[in-house]
Amino acid sequence: MKIFLDTANIEEIKKGIDWGIVDGVTTNPTLVAKENTVFEDRIVEICNAVKGPVSAEVVSTDYEGMIEEAHKLIKLSEHVVVKIPMTHEGIKAVKTLSKEGIKTNVTLIFSPLQAYLAAKAGATYVSPFIGRMDDIGNTGMDIVEEIIQIFDNYGYETEVLVASVRHSEHVLEAALAGADVVTIPFDVLEKLFKHPMTDLGLERFLKDWKKYQEYMKNK
Ligand code: E4P
Repeated sequence: MKIFLDTANIEEIKKGIDWGIVDGVTTNPTLVAKENTVFEDRIVEICNAVKGPVSAEVVSTDYEGMIEEAHKLIKLSEHVVVKIPMTHEGIKAVKTLSKEGIKTNVTLIFSPLQAYLAAKAGATYVSPFIGRMDDIGNTGMDIVEEIIQIFDNYGYETEVLVASVRHSEHVLEAALAGADVVTIPFDVLEKLFKHPMTDLGLERFLKDWKKYQEYMKNK
């Protein structure tokens, strides 16, 4: 399973890349707005750092506007994936962009049938929003399993990108379900490394090694 970082913060992205486990990045208008910087410049900066798929979202809601924005976005870098909302106009735009060989990520997916339509239109990725479904009392991960089943049934190559991840358990469930990608906030990525038994174990190994070194010195 590929790991994408769900952030537009360049320091977080650089740290994740440095750890060697980040394959790509997803952004959205909310994440970019937090950064108080020029959108296009930040997308270029992220693409240059990650050298993998970087989702940049259109803000037009009509077909023509989305296509125009998509054409501008892909000029920023070969790594740009155009993020398109799951609407009638959005799916129409995905169909056109896919015919043009432009990569797309259909965002704001909340049902398996929405994912099916996106795949049918030729989306490169679909992004089911797990955490936001859990927030309203549903089990977000259920739709991930259903999407994977539908794509397997019909051989769709569209990748299932688990989004709106809130905690490590979501990452584990995405991996167990066989998702292609999980996109995670930086704080969740940091937590994936942690286990108290690892810290205790390392502390004990180092303490015992020190004792051994002292013994060898005084022998
Ligand atoms: C996905 O690409 C979105 O950027 C993201 O996962 C949304 O997550 P949120 O529900 O935490 O805003």
